Amino acid sequence: MSTLMSRFRLAWPLALVLAAGTLAGITSATNAQAADAPYQDPTLPVSTRVDDLLARMSLAEKAGQMTQAERSVVSPADLTTYGIGSVLSGGGSAPATNTATGWADMVDTFQRAALATPLGIPMLYGVDAVHGDNNVYGSTIFPHNIGLGATRNPTLVQDIGRAVAEEVTGAGPRWTFAPCLAVARNDRWGRTYESFGETPDLVSSMADIVTGFQGPTLGGAASVLATAKHYIGDGATTDGVDQGDAQITEEELRAIHLPPFQAAVNRGVGSIMVSFSSVNGVKMHGNTYLITDVLKGELGFAGFVVSDWAGIDQLDGLPGFTQAEVAAAVNAGIDMIMVPYEYGSFITALTDAVTAGQISMARVDDAVSRILAKKFELGLFEEPLTDRSYTATVGGTAHRDLARQAVRESQVLLKNEGDVLPLAKSGGKVFVAGKSADDIGNASGGWTISWQGDSGNITPGTTILEGIRNTVGSATTVTYSEDGTGIDSSYRAAIAVVGETPYAEGVGDLPGSMGLDTTDLATIARLRAAGVPVIVVLVSGRPMDIAAHLGDWDAFVAAWLPGTEGQGVADVLFGDYNPTGTLPMTWMASASQQPINDGDGQTGLFPYGYGLSYPGIEPSASASASASASGSASASASAGSTCTVTYQVTSQWSTGFIGEVAIVVTGGPVSGWTLTFAFPGSQQVTSAWSAVVTQSGTAVTATNAAWNGTIAAGGSASFGFQGTYDGTNTAPTAFALNGTACALG
Ligand code: BGC
Ligand code: BGC
Repeated sequence: MSTLMSRFRLAWPLALVLAAGTLAGITSATNAQAADAPYQDPTLPVSTRVDDLLARMSLAEKAGQMTQAERSVVSPADLTTYGIGSVLSGGGSAPATNTATGWADMVDTFQRAALATPLGIPMLYGVDAVHGDNNVYGSTIFPHNIGLGATRNPTLVQDIGRAVAEEVTGAGPRWTFAPCLAVARNDRWGRTYESFGETPDLVSSMADIVTGFQGPTLGGAASVLATAKHYIGDGATTDGVDQGDAQITEEELRAIHLPPFQAAVNRGVGSIMVSFSSVNGVKMHGNTYLITDVLKGELGFAGFVVSDWAGIDQLDGLPGFTQAEVAAAVNAGIDMIMVPYEYGSFITALTDAVTAGQISMARVDDAVSRILAKKFELGLFEEPLTDRSYTATVGGTAHRDLARQAVRESQVLLKNEGDVLPLAKSGGKVFVAGKSADDIGNASGGWTISWQGDSGNITPGTTILEGIRNTVGSATTVTYSEDGTGIDSSYRAAIAVVGETPYAEGVGDLPGSMGLDTTDLATIARLRAAGVPVIVVLVSGRPMDIAAHLGDWDAFVAAWLPGTEGQGVADVLFGDYNPTGTLPMTWMASASQQPINDGDGQTGLFPYGYGLSYPGIEPSASASASASASGSASASASAGSTCTVTYQVTSQWSTGFIGEVAIVVTGGPVSGWTLTFAFPGSQQVTSAWSAVVTQSGTAVTATNAAWNGTIAAGGSASFGFQGTYDGTNTAPTAFALNGTACALG
């Protein structure tokens, strides 16, 4: 366990004492709330309401709005006294009655306390709904992001965002600290599973989930404010150390780690969380250039920036925060501070820093305006209390069905010797073993009910074993033994469900071995000894170092962290769904290869984008429009297929730029594609992702990657590149797909 965490544990009693504070609070009657004040009028533009409200606020009230406190320490009374703008639940921080209704009651109690302030500004409650409303007992737990990346299906992922937003809304919070848009480059990192994948293109495509959370605009039905995190470079740290340092050139940072945030900004993401990590030795929480200049300036992010959990405390390397650290963080561009415990002394420090001229009033006004704008847009002033019409959706059938579909689409079939899969549903006996076969907690991973997650029956759902039992016919016997004892040669197959047990953040960092534990290896060995075909289903938050054992296994499925709907795994094993999932990460041939990523010249065990289907069966249709597909070398556009190309420069600096190209195919499908275009100026492509790009003079040729070669009718593919330019950077004006001219998007 990291020293950082033990520090949090020790800091607790101290935090409770300090949180009591000695601040005078904001109870002055000078700012009486006027029911007919312009800011209370929903017919006025948000900017007018913000300006009106801001003009009525004292410095103490502004400081309160910039403060986020943890629910376990802040009392409703303190919310009123200090005018605190936001409350959060850290991982696993739940009310005593951990049900959706218990949550709604708690959130509403805090909200009433916020409304009792002189100006009646509602608070915004935030939670880590990172794979479902995962702190709530009985909620639907979706696959973690790494599994969603394997689906290659942004439409499905957006649908998941909508479902999660409904569950969050029904439990009271209006803000989720999701999506994590980390591009995880080193699988040793304990947060690898929070990443959609190792390439900017894949992660950027999944930013569609922002629209799922928020809806088309903030404030619609069950609209939940989204947070793109952790800005920037959390997945780039040396050796994959959580909260570590990313030693990286600006070009690479922009090429690999910035595009997902641009995509989220394009989707109107309301907030962005700063990373604990550093870039070239500079803590992101104090990085003015990357937060203020690049994110708010260049990318045009108009929402608010939130710090991470006690993140400002780390600026000077000493425990706790000082007034200087508060000033440094706010001046770097952080608008809301996740204190999370010592909110009283934080408000004092912030107020004193302003009074002392260390933070300008203009900076405070900008921060508060950004926060208030989102509260107005969300409709919090008009409807501050929980919309309980969504409470019954928490863990409801429709959402569990969607999660099951996501599980099916996230399974990646990596080996299938002698077509041992799919298993027949009827006849004979099937043996099931492994510590994760009958374990919802293991299947769900970290950030489930508690921060670190836990093994066992931590919340209701269908285990993989139950899914298998539900699937086979009555004439088939399923025998289960966790450690594999009792198997003999009378079984037609053995399924071992093994892998990692839950962890979150730095606790999951793996500086050493990345292999299976001795328990799993012993279980698999018992199954092998019986001489029956062995199918290994790996439940893990990342690729593991299994190359030395793969030869002993007949079939191998990467199940990632599927969550509560284990039926989806069984659906694939028994052929109710023909696998379509493809690797979102390159699979190492040995841990010593880390970091290993697509295009770095190393040969892994399985390449990025790899994934098998069952032969002789039509690939299963995906639930949503954009089905994933296996690559095909031969290019053939069926007659009548037409295309539209959108070319975008997503960021640009004095000598370089990032381009993104999206191809939409209307009419017939395309199997294998080559897109050609010419640069009007001196642009030169220097690297690319999701396509192989070559250039001769001004002529550019982009050929599909292994995994995005097939574009369904009405579907799309995209790729990105980094390039240099001289003078002006004018966009190309003509594109041809497999030799046929496309329209411009
Ligand atoms: C994590 C964030 C999370 C926050 C609140 C931090 O430790 O890094 O991802 O949103 O806690 O729980
Ligand atoms: C909280 C998490 C938080 C973590 C910070 C835990 O105590 O529950 O939400 O992310 O501390 O490392």
